[in-house]
Formats: sequence, C-alpha cells, structure tokens
Amino acid sequence: MRTRLTQAFGIEHPIILAPAAGAAGGALASAVTRAGGFGMIGGGYGDAEWLAGELAPADAPVGAGFITWSLEKAPHLLDQALAAPRRAIMPSFGDPAPVAAQIHDAKVPLICQIQTLDHARAAIDADADVIVAQGGDAGGHGDLRGTMSLAPEIADPLTARGPATILCAAGGIADGRGLAAALMLGADGAVVGSRFWVSAEARVPKPMQAAAINAAGDDALRTRVVERAREPAWPGRFTIPVLRSSFTDRWHGDQAGLDAALATERPRWQAAAAAGDPSVANPIVGEAAGLIHDAPHAADILSDMIAGAEAALARAARKEKCRCSPRS
Ligand SMILES: Cc1cc2nc3c(=O)[nH]c(=O)nc-3n(C[C@H](O)[C@H](O)[C@H](O)COP(=O)(O)O)c2cc1C
Repeated sequence: MRTRLTQAFGIEHPIILAPAAGAAGGALASAVTRAGGFGMIGGGYGDAEWLAGELAPADAPVGAGFITWSLEKAPHLLDQALAAPRRAIMPSFGDPAPVAAQIHDAKVPLICQIQTLDHARAAIDADADVIVAQGGDAGGHGDLRGTMSLAPEIADPLTARGPATILCAAGGIADGRGLAAALMLGADGAVVGSRFWVSAEARVPKPMQAAAINAAGDDALRTRVVERAREPAWPGRFTIPVLRSSFTDRWHGDQAGLDAALATERPRWQAAAAAGDPSVANPIVGEAAGLIHDAPHAADILSDMIAGAEAALARAARKEKCRCSPRS
C-alpha cells in the first residue's frame, strides 16, 4: 500500500502511531516502526526523565509528540527530543509557530495535528510537512468536528495548494475498514491511537485495557470533569473522551458539584488511576473502543489493518466494476 506518506517517510504501511501521552513509550513506538508503520513516543505534558527513559529503548527510528501549550513552558524537552536521532516531531493542541522554526532547522519533519480549519491554516503557515486532521471520535483531547467531513474538507485546499503537504486522518480508525476509508477521504495515511492503546506493548495497566475491550463505542463520552481530577487543566475548547466510570457517572455535567468535592475526589481519582482501576479512573480511549476486542502485539494490529484495508479496497473496486458493466 504505497502513498505519499509511505514514500516520504520510507515506511511500508501508511499508519502512524499516535503519540498518546504516557501510553506510547519507546517499546510501542519502536514495535510499530519495526512492523512497517511509523512509531511516535507520547511526550505529552513533558517530563524530561520519562522522555529520556523512553527515547533510550526506542531501537528503531521513531518520532516524538508533545502538547504544544505545555511544550512552550518546557522548551528544553524539544531540545532533548531533537538531540536524539528522531524522525519527526508532532506538536498538537496549539499554534505550532513558536516551535516550527527549531524543528525545521533541525531538518526533522513537522507533523501538526489539527481539529478545525483555522488550526489547519496555522499548520500550513508553519510549513507543516504532515497535517493530521483529528476528528471528534478520536481518543485523547480533541474537538467536535467529525473525521468523516474534516479530513476531506482539509484535503481539498491542500491538494489545490500543491503536493507538498501530506495529510493523515485520525479519529475512530481502528481496523482496515477505517484505514481504507481514510484513504478514500483523501488522506495519505492514518494516525491511530486507541487501537494501539490496547496493545501488548502499550504502557497501560491491563485492567484498563480490559475495560476498553469490554466497552462499546457508546461508553465513550467527552467531558471536562476528568481534567479537574487529573490536572493539568486544559485551555480552550478541548475536551477529552473517556470510557465512563463511577466517577463520570457521578460528576459528568456537574462540574460545580465536583469542584466543591475536589479535595477528596481528585485524590480518589488519581489513586485509582495509579492503581489501574477502571471502575473509578477512566480509560482514555475514543469511540473506537467498540471496535477493539483484544490486546495483541502492535505488529499484529498493523498487519490486520493492512490486510483489512486491502480487502475493503478490493471489495470497493469489485463493486465499482459491477456498476460499470452490469452484465459482466
Ligand atoms: C490515551 C491517548 C492519549 C493521547 N495523547 C496525545 C498527545 O499527548 N498528543 C497528541 O498529539 N495526541 C494525543 N492523542 C490523540 C492522538 O494523537 C490521535 O488523534 C487519536 O488517538 C486518534 O484517534 P483514535 O484514538 O480513535 O485512533 C492521544 C490519544 C490517546 C488515545
């Protein structure tokens, strides 16, 4: 499956591992790269010691992702990531302009994840090499636009502008059908998070993964109350999708009530998160949870997605042929 993404990154499959904060460490990122995709370490809010530990075992070329507004408070993390032989840097959730020049100067591809057309314009202005159109069904923080219309709406101006900028779709892509759909929407590849969050190599407690396996897409909800428990607070309109738990059953929609009880509720949620207890702390995955039924190795996830996408595209081609020659 050759696309502009596979050509530009020298990879076999048009799949990028999402830099899921904390969950996508060096072991998962390098497993994805070794299996023919492109692995990204989730640098998240930025912890120099954690990052150093995860960059070290990455025994295949991988990239690193950061939360842009947090990175601006800790610029040394970008120096740290660029000092290692990284293959891409992905700042998300904020204007990439303040960090773009440093990434370009290091001759490292700049991947910008966007949620709206305004964000896309800012990514184009920052001369992004790859734009990731993240729809609201994604795991991790995001906004409301659906992947299905956001990706092609951004594909059109990018195509008109010229072939330089690569487009990936993200959000709800967890099997071959999703990957095939992303390509049909005009993307050159997919950024996949939730599916790899439930993989053997992810840095995620097994009971949390089990909760995701047993969940349906309907169990994912976008909320702000988890942010109140987790810290740090996020700016702007971003919300986070989580699988429901007794905590969100009680507090979702009652932020004022939660704020009044925060002195006990925050440590309770955080203790449950540290213990990997999904009955209180919420697994952070998106609607794709309903498509996830096991926790295999990353390489198996990749090969299944590719086989499924090839089969879906072949089915679509057969249907097209049938329509064109009804008697054949
Ligand atoms: C647990 C989790 C944490 C995430 N953290 C980040 C992050 O720190 N930075 C980032 O750019 N994207 C992050 N994302 C979002 C992904 O980059 C991507 O948009 C999303 O996972 C795609 O949707 P999917 O989960 O349905 O595959 C995270 C996703 C998950 C599931």
